[in-house]
Amino acid sequence: MQGKSIPIEVPIIVNLAGGKGGVGTSTITANIAYALGEAGSGFGTIGVIDLAYGANSTLSKLLGVPPLGTNGFWNYITARYYPYQDSSPNITPQLTQQIALITSGTIEAHRIDWALSYVLSRMSNDPDQVGWALYNDIAELIVNKLLIHKPSLVIIDVPSAIFKPLAWAVLMMSRIVNVVVKAGSTHQDEAMEVLGLVSAVINQRAQLGLAQPDVFLIVNQAFPGDNTANELKARGVPMRGTSVLPYSPAVHYITDYMKDLAVKYEVPQDKFFRQWRDTILAIARNEYEVARSARQGRGFFRLKS
Ligand SMILES: Nc1ncnc2c1ncn2[C@@H]1O[C@H](COP(=O)(O)OP(=O)(O)O)[C@@H](O)[C@H]1O
Ligand SMILES: [Mg+2]
Repeated sequence: MQGKSIPIEVPIIVNLAGGKGGVGTSTITANIAYALGEAGSGFGTIGVIDLAYGANSTLSKLLGVPPLGTNGFWNYITARYYPYQDSSPNITPQLTQQIALITSGTIEAHRIDWALSYVLSRMSNDPDQVGWALYNDIAELIVNKLLIHKPSLVIIDVPSAIFKPLAWAVLMMSRIVNVVVKAGSTHQDEAMEVLGLVSAVINQRAQLGLAQPDVFLIVNQAFPGDNTANELKARGVPMRGTSVLPYSPAVHYITDYMKDLAVKYEVPQDKFFRQWRDTILAIARNEYEVARSARQGRGFFRLKS
Protein backbone atom coordinates (compact mmCIF):
# COMPACT_ATOMS: atom_id res chain seq x y z
CA MET A 1 0.00 0.00 0.00
CA GLN A 2 2.83 2.42 0.74
CA GLY A 3 3.71 2.15 -2.96
CA LYS A 4 0.64 4.31 -3.52
CA SER A 5 1.50 6.83 -0.83
CA ILE A 6 1.61 10.43 -1.97
CA PRO A 7 5.11 11.94 -1.81
CA ILE A 8 5.48 15.01 0.40
CA GLU A 9 8.35 17.27 -0.56
CA VAL A 10 8.78 19.05 2.73
CA PRO A 11 10.15 17.81 6.05
CA ILE A 12 7.57 17.08 8.70
CA ILE A 13 8.08 17.63 12.41
CA VAL A 14 5.64 15.83 14.64
CA ASN A 15 5.05 16.93 18.23
CA LEU A 16 3.47 14.00 19.96
CA ALA A 17 2.01 13.92 23.44
CA GLY A 18 3.21 11.27 25.83
CA GLY A 19 0.61 11.25 28.57
CA LYS A 20 -2.92 12.25 29.35
CA GLY A 21 -2.88 15.70 27.82
CA GLY A 22 -1.83 19.13 28.90
CA VAL A 23 1.79 18.11 28.49
CA GLY A 24 2.52 21.10 26.26
CA THR A 25 2.57 19.95 22.62
CA SER A 26 0.55 22.96 21.46
CA THR A 27 2.66 25.41 23.42
CA ILE A 28 5.83 23.86 22.03
CA THR A 29 4.44 23.72 18.48
CA ALA A 30 3.49 27.41 18.61
CA ASN A 31 6.86 28.40 19.99
CA ILE A 32 8.91 26.41 17.53
CA ALA A 33 6.81 27.73 14.65
CA TYR A 34 7.01 31.31 15.83
CA ALA A 35 10.68 31.23 16.69
CA LEU A 36 11.68 29.56 13.43
CA GLY A 37 9.34 31.69 11.35
CA GLU A 38 10.65 34.93 12.77
CA ALA A 39 12.20 37.25 10.23
CA GLY A 40 15.92 36.66 10.01
CA SER A 41 15.87 33.08 11.21
CA GLY A 42 16.38 31.86 7.66
CA PHE A 43 13.68 29.26 7.93
CA GLY A 44 11.09 31.26 6.00
CA THR A 45 7.49 30.15 6.18
CA ILE A 46 6.54 27.40 8.61
CA GLY A 47 3.48 25.28 7.95
CA VAL A 48 1.49 24.12 10.96
CA ILE A 49 -1.36 21.62 11.22
CA ASP A 50 -3.40 21.30 14.39
CA LEU A 51 -4.93 17.86 14.96
CA ALA A 52 -6.65 18.92 18.20
CA TYR A 53 -9.70 16.81 18.70
CA GLY A 54 -12.94 18.75 19.09
CA ALA A 55 -14.16 22.25 18.68
CA ASN A 56 -11.30 24.47 19.76
CA SER A 57 -7.98 25.03 18.14
CA THR A 58 -5.51 25.89 20.88
CA LEU A 59 -2.99 26.77 18.22
CA SER A 60 -5.09 29.45 16.61
CA LYS A 61 -5.30 31.07 20.05
CA LEU A 62 -1.59 30.69 20.70
CA LEU A 63 -0.70 32.07 17.29
CA GLY A 64 -3.31 34.80 17.51
CA VAL A 65 -5.25 33.98 14.35
CA PRO A 66 -9.01 33.44 14.09
CA PRO A 67 -9.99 29.77 13.92
CA LEU A 68 -10.97 28.46 10.51
CA GLY A 69 -14.49 27.64 11.63
CA THR A 70 -15.78 24.75 9.57
CA ASN A 71 -12.74 24.76 7.30
CA GLY A 72 -10.25 22.97 9.50
CA PHE A 73 -8.44 19.65 9.56
CA TRP A 74 -11.28 17.63 11.05
CA ASN A 75 -13.84 19.13 8.68
CA TYR A 76 -11.60 17.97 5.87
CA ILE A 77 -11.25 14.44 7.28
CA THR A 78 -14.92 14.04 8.16
CA ALA A 79 -15.99 15.31 4.73
CA ARG A 80 -14.01 12.41 3.28
CA TYR A 81 -15.52 9.70 5.41
CA TYR A 82 -18.76 10.87 7.01
CA PRO A 83 -21.55 10.46 4.47
CA TYR A 84 -23.93 12.89 6.16
CA GLN A 85 -21.69 15.94 6.25
CA ASP A 86 -23.74 18.90 5.05
CA SER A 87 -21.06 21.01 3.46
CA SER A 88 -17.71 20.43 1.87
CA PRO A 89 -15.02 22.47 3.56
CA ASN A 90 -12.83 24.94 1.77
CA ILE A 91 -9.47 24.56 3.49
CA THR A 92 -7.43 27.74 3.35
CA PRO A 93 -4.51 28.11 5.76
CA GLN A 94 -4.55 31.10 8.10
CA LEU A 95 -1.51 33.24 7.54
CA THR A 96 0.30 35.11 10.25
CA GLN A 97 3.89 36.31 10.49
CA GLN A 98 5.61 33.58 8.44
CA ILE A 99 3.24 30.86 9.61
CA ALA A 100 0.63 29.09 7.51
CA LEU A 101 -1.74 27.35 9.92
CA ILE A 102 -4.38 24.74 9.23
CA THR A 103 -6.44 24.69 12.41
CA SER A 104 -8.32 21.70 13.72
CA GLY A 105 -11.65 23.26 12.75
CA THR A 106 -14.96 23.65 14.49
CA ILE A 107 -16.72 20.35 14.65
CA GLU A 108 -18.56 18.30 17.27
CA ALA A 109 -16.58 15.42 18.71
CA HIS A 110 -19.32 12.91 17.84
CA ARG A 111 -19.00 13.74 14.14
CA ILE A 112 -15.31 13.02 14.32
CA ASP A 113 -16.05 9.72 16.04
CA TRP A 114 -18.56 8.83 13.35
CA ALA A 115 -16.14 9.69 10.59
CA LEU A 116 -13.39 7.61 12.15
CA SER A 117 -15.68 4.62 12.58
CA TYR A 118 -16.66 4.98 8.92
CA VAL A 119 -13.01 4.94 7.89
CA LEU A 120 -12.58 1.75 9.87
CA SER A 121 -15.67 0.03 8.51
CA ARG A 122 -14.85 0.98 4.93
CA MET A 123 -11.44 -0.58 5.26
CA SER A 124 -12.77 -3.72 6.96
CA ASN A 125 -11.11 -2.78 10.22
CA ASP A 126 -7.62 -3.21 8.81
CA PRO A 127 -5.55 -0.69 10.79
CA ASP A 128 -2.79 -0.72 8.17
CA GLN A 129 -5.16 0.32 5.40
CA VAL A 130 -6.75 2.96 7.59
CA GLY A 131 -3.32 4.29 8.50
CA TRP A 132 -2.22 4.59 4.88
CA ALA A 133 -5.53 6.17 3.88
CA LEU A 134 -5.09 8.83 6.56
CA TYR A 135 -1.46 9.23 5.52
CA ASN A 136 -2.60 10.07 2.02
CA ASP A 137 -5.32 12.42 3.28
CA ILE A 138 -2.75 14.42 5.23
CA ALA A 139 -0.22 14.25 2.40
CA GLU A 140 -2.82 15.63 -0.01
CA LEU A 141 -3.69 18.40 2.40
CA ILE A 142 -0.03 19.40 2.69
CA VAL A 143 0.67 19.16 -1.03
CA ASN A 144 -2.49 21.00 -2.12
CA LYS A 145 -2.89 23.58 0.63
CA LEU A 146 0.44 24.24 2.30
CA LEU A 147 3.19 23.84 -0.30
CA ILE A 148 1.86 26.85 -2.19
CA HIS A 149 3.23 28.92 0.72
CA LYS A 150 6.68 27.34 0.26
CA PRO A 151 7.22 26.25 3.85
CA SER A 152 10.71 25.05 4.83
CA LEU A 153 9.00 22.57 7.14
CA VAL A 154 5.59 21.58 8.42
CA ILE A 155 4.92 21.01 12.12
CA ILE A 156 2.03 18.76 13.13
CA ASP A 157 0.60 19.08 16.63
CA VAL A 158 -0.76 15.71 17.75
CA PRO A 159 -2.90 15.76 20.90
CA SER A 160 -2.90 12.94 23.39
CA ALA A 161 -5.37 10.08 23.06
CA ILE A 162 -5.60 10.57 19.31
CA PHE A 163 -7.04 7.86 17.01
CA LYS A 164 -4.11 5.46 16.76
CA PRO A 165 -4.01 5.01 12.95
CA LEU A 166 -3.84 8.81 12.69
CA ALA A 167 -0.87 8.98 15.06
CA TRP A 168 0.67 6.14 13.05
CA ALA A 169 0.13 8.07 9.78
CA VAL A 170 1.88 11.22 10.98
CA LEU A 171 4.71 9.19 12.53
CA MET A 172 5.12 7.42 9.21
CA MET A 173 5.71 10.72 7.37
CA SER A 174 7.82 12.49 9.98
CA ARG A 175 11.42 13.56 9.66
CA ILE A 176 11.60 14.62 13.31
CA VAL A 177 9.54 13.22 16.15
CA ASN A 178 9.38 15.20 19.36
CA VAL A 179 7.84 13.10 22.10
CA VAL A 180 6.67 15.58 24.68
CA VAL A 181 6.24 14.28 28.21
CA LYS A 182 5.47 16.07 31.39
CA ALA A 183 8.21 15.97 34.00
CA GLY A 184 7.71 13.72 36.99
CA SER A 185 7.77 9.99 37.58
CA THR A 186 3.97 9.60 37.50
CA HIS A 187 4.00 10.42 33.79
CA GLN A 188 6.58 7.86 32.75
CA ASP A 189 4.32 4.89 32.19
CA GLU A 190 2.04 6.95 29.95
CA ALA A 191 5.08 8.15 28.08
CA MET A 192 6.22 4.57 27.54
CA GLU A 193 2.97 3.80 25.73
CA VAL A 194 3.58 6.52 23.15
CA LEU A 195 7.24 5.59 22.90
CA GLY A 196 6.12 2.04 22.14
CA LEU A 197 4.13 3.31 19.17
CA VAL A 198 7.10 5.37 18.01
CA SER A 199 9.35 2.29 18.21
CA ALA A 200 6.84 0.24 16.23
CA VAL A 201 6.77 2.83 13.45
CA ILE A 202 10.56 3.01 13.42
CA ASN A 203 10.69 -0.76 12.87
CA GLN A 204 8.04 -0.64 10.18
CA ARG A 205 9.84 2.13 8.33
CA ALA A 206 13.05 0.12 8.46
CA GLN A 207 11.27 -2.93 7.04
CA LEU A 208 9.84 -0.84 4.20
CA GLY A 209 13.24 0.66 3.46
CA LEU A 210 12.05 4.16 4.37
CA ALA A 211 14.28 6.80 5.97
CA GLN A 212 14.27 6.87 9.74
CA PRO A 213 13.03 9.85 11.75
CA ASP A 214 15.10 11.54 14.44
CA VAL A 215 13.36 11.03 17.74
CA PHE A 216 13.76 13.59 20.51
CA LEU A 217 12.43 13.47 24.01
CA ILE A 218 11.18 16.78 25.35
CA VAL A 219 10.60 16.76 29.07
CA ASN A 220 8.36 19.74 29.71
CA GLN A 221 7.36 21.60 32.86
CA ALA A 222 10.41 20.39 34.77
CA PHE A 223 11.68 21.77 38.05
CA PRO A 224 15.40 21.88 38.85
CA GLY A 225 16.84 18.44 39.46
CA ASP A 226 14.13 16.61 37.51
CA ASN A 227 15.29 13.16 36.54
CA THR A 228 12.56 12.09 34.10
CA ALA A 229 14.82 12.13 31.05
CA ASN A 230 17.45 9.88 32.63
CA GLU A 231 14.85 7.48 33.96
CA LEU A 232 13.22 7.13 30.54
CA LYS A 233 16.59 6.65 28.90
CA ALA A 234 17.38 3.94 31.44
CA ARG A 235 14.32 2.10 30.13
CA GLY A 236 16.07 1.72 26.82
CA VAL A 237 14.15 4.18 24.68
CA PRO A 238 16.11 5.03 21.51
CA MET A 239 16.48 8.81 21.36
CA ARG A 240 18.63 11.06 19.30
CA GLY A 241 18.48 13.78 21.91
CA THR A 242 16.72 15.06 24.97
CA SER A 243 15.69 18.53 26.00
CA VAL A 244 14.37 19.58 29.35
CA LEU A 245 12.08 22.62 29.31
CA PRO A 246 11.66 24.25 32.71
CA TYR A 247 8.33 24.95 34.24
CA SER A 248 7.81 28.59 33.43
CA PRO A 249 5.33 30.80 35.26
CA ALA A 250 5.50 33.09 32.25
CA VAL A 251 4.16 30.62 29.70
CA HIS A 252 0.62 31.86 30.14
CA TYR A 253 1.67 35.20 28.67
CA ILE A 254 2.34 33.48 25.42
CA THR A 255 -0.74 34.74 23.58
CA ASP A 256 -0.12 38.38 24.37
CA TYR A 257 3.50 37.85 23.59
CA MET A 258 2.69 36.42 20.18
CA LYS A 259 0.46 39.35 19.38
CA ASP A 260 3.00 41.89 20.53
CA LEU A 261 5.70 40.15 18.61
CA ALA A 262 3.70 40.38 15.43
CA VAL A 263 3.70 44.14 15.76
CA LYS A 264 7.01 44.97 17.34
CA TYR A 265 9.34 41.98 17.10
CA GLU A 266 10.24 42.52 20.68
CA VAL A 267 11.26 39.91 23.20
CA PRO A 268 9.54 40.06 26.59
CA GLN A 269 11.70 40.79 29.58
CA ASP A 270 10.64 37.80 31.60
CA LYS A 271 13.74 35.75 32.13
CA PHE A 272 11.89 32.48 32.70
CA PHE A 273 10.11 32.83 29.43
CA ARG A 274 13.27 33.70 27.59
CA GLN A 275 15.05 30.71 29.09
CA TRP A 276 12.18 28.47 28.06
CA ARG A 277 11.99 29.77 24.56
CA ASP A 278 15.76 29.70 24.05
CA THR A 279 15.78 26.05 25.04
CA ILE A 280 13.15 25.26 22.41
CA LEU A 281 15.02 27.16 19.75
CA ALA A 282 18.24 25.41 20.64
CA ILE A 283 16.59 22.08 19.89
CA ALA A 284 16.05 23.15 16.34
CA ARG A 285 19.08 25.34 15.77
CA ASN A 286 21.68 23.06 17.31
CA GLU A 287 20.64 20.07 15.31
CA TYR A 288 19.22 21.47 12.13
CA GLU A 289 19.93 24.13 9.58
CA VAL A 290 18.25 25.59 6.57
CA ALA A 291 19.77 24.56 3.30
CA ARG A 292 18.82 26.10 -0.02
CA SER A 293 17.75 24.03 -2.92
CA ALA A 294 19.51 25.50 -5.93
CA ARG A 295 16.85 24.18 -8.25
CA GLN A 296 13.77 25.44 -6.47
CA GLY A 297 15.24 28.27 -4.41
CA ARG A 298 13.28 26.90 -1.51
CA GLY A 299 14.74 26.52 1.93
CA PHE A 300 14.66 23.08 3.43
CA PHE A 301 15.44 21.70 6.79
CA ARG A 302 18.38 19.37 7.18
CA LEU A 303 20.41 17.79 9.89
CA LYS A 304 23.70 19.56 10.51
CA SER A 305 26.59 17.38 9.50
N1 LIG B 1 6.87 24.77 30.41
C1 LIG B 1 5.68 25.17 30.86
N2 LIG B 1 5.59 25.87 32.01
C2 LIG B 1 4.40 26.27 32.49
N3 LIG B 1 3.23 26.02 31.90
C3 LIG B 1 3.24 25.32 30.74
C4 LIG B 1 4.47 24.86 30.16
N4 LIG B 1 4.16 24.20 29.02
C5 LIG B 1 2.83 24.23 28.91
N5 LIG B 1 2.26 24.91 29.93
C6 LIG B 1 0.83 25.15 30.18
O1 LIG B 1 0.19 23.89 30.29
C7 LIG B 1 -1.10 23.94 29.71
C8 LIG B 1 -1.23 22.86 28.64
O2 LIG B 1 -0.38 23.19 27.55
P1 LIG B 1 -0.78 22.78 26.06
O3 LIG B 1 0.33 23.22 25.17
O4 LIG B 1 -2.14 23.26 25.71
O5 LIG B 1 -0.78 21.19 26.21
P2 LIG B 1 -1.26 20.08 25.16
O6 LIG B 1 -1.33 20.71 23.81
O7 LIG B 1 -0.24 18.99 25.25
O8 LIG B 1 -2.59 19.64 25.66
C9 LIG B 1 -1.27 25.35 29.17
O9 LIG B 1 -1.98 26.09 30.12
C10 LIG B 1 0.15 25.87 29.03
O10 LIG B 1 0.24 27.27 29.19
MG1 LIG C 1 -2.96 20.78 22.45
